[in-house]
Amino acid sequence: MIITKVSVTSVAQLKNHIFLLKCNSSRLSSEFKAGQFANIKVSDSSFPLLRRPFSICDIDQDNICFMFTVHGEGTKNLSDKKQGDLIDVIAPLGKGFGIDEDFDHAIIIAGGIGVAPFPLLTKRLAGKKVTTFLGGRSTNDIVTYGLENMKIATDDGSMGVKGNVVDLFATHLDELRDEKMKVFACGPTPMLRVLQQLLLRENINGEISTECAMACGFGICQGCPVENSHDETKYLLVCKDGPVFNVKDVVL
Ligand SMILES: Cc1cc2nc3c(=O)[nH]c(=O)nc-3n(C[C@H](O)[C@H](O)[C@H](O)COP(=O)(O)OP(=O)(O)OC[C@H]3O[C@@H](n4cnc5c(N)ncnc54)[C@H](O)[C@@H]3O)c2cc1C
Ligand code: FES
Repeated sequence: MIITKVSVTSVAQLKNHIFLLKCNSSRLSSEFKAGQFANIKVSDSSFPLLRRPFSICDIDQDNICFMFTVHGEGTKNLSDKKQGDLIDVIAPLGKGFGIDEDFDHAIIIAGGIGVAPFPLLTKRLAGKKVTTFLGGRSTNDIVTYGLENMKIATDDGSMGVKGNVVDLFATHLDELRDEKMKVFACGPTPMLRVLQQLLLRENINGEISTECAMACGFGICQGCPVENSHDETKYLLVCKDGPVFNVKDVVL
């Protein structure tokens, strides 16, 4: 874990409210695992006080990339950054996706901005078969940067099939079932909850990247608990034990 200042290389608007921020990462290691995150100081002033967590989206030559949706003050500040601005980051944080297991087919399932960790995962999965299921409310939420072999669902049907991404994945289960697959998922908690039920019911190996509000980002403040499914008296920390968990290990 390093605390450092990185300089902004570019800020690109991918969709109305979705941005890709590239920063020079020569002061950071490039050995990040897909699914790890950075805790970013989004403003030079004391407001917002807390850093904001963002998945490491991609490592592109000397750049570390973050993809984000503008929600509030913090992400608005990030979207206003200019080339050469310095940003204070703590990275890499958390545990990433496990890619060393025995599987032939990686199934990526992303809802909305949950797509953010998957360009780097796709790079790290080079040589494996990858299918990516992407979902969003409408075409405005669908970003395909750095992804491969996509199947798309939107709530309003403006892109891909009409419906949600977990249902889309379920319609492909019969053809996927014979393969040694592993699911990698990230998205809003309600989507992950439904997916978790499906994976557990069908006994499919999978990992999910969970989201919650964070403060320190590395296990000190105890502010990001998630229930441990093996022992309801114990909790796990999203920042330190996650954000990526085996689908069997957490109660969403
Ligand atoms: C491990 C981890 C990785 C993350 N990676 C990314 C990423 O790669 N890209 C990204 O865009 N976001 C990511 N997030 C979420 C991101 O941290 C929040 O969107 C960000 O903190 C919002 O900050 P803000 O100051 O703009 O909004 P705030 O002022 O904190 O919130 C503004 C409003 O938006 C709502 N809001 C905040 N976050 C979300 C959310 N995630 N979904 C829906 N509503 C929300 C709040 O409830 C509030 O109403 C990640 C979160 C975690 C825990
Ligand atoms: S954010 Fe502080 S312990 Fe997780």
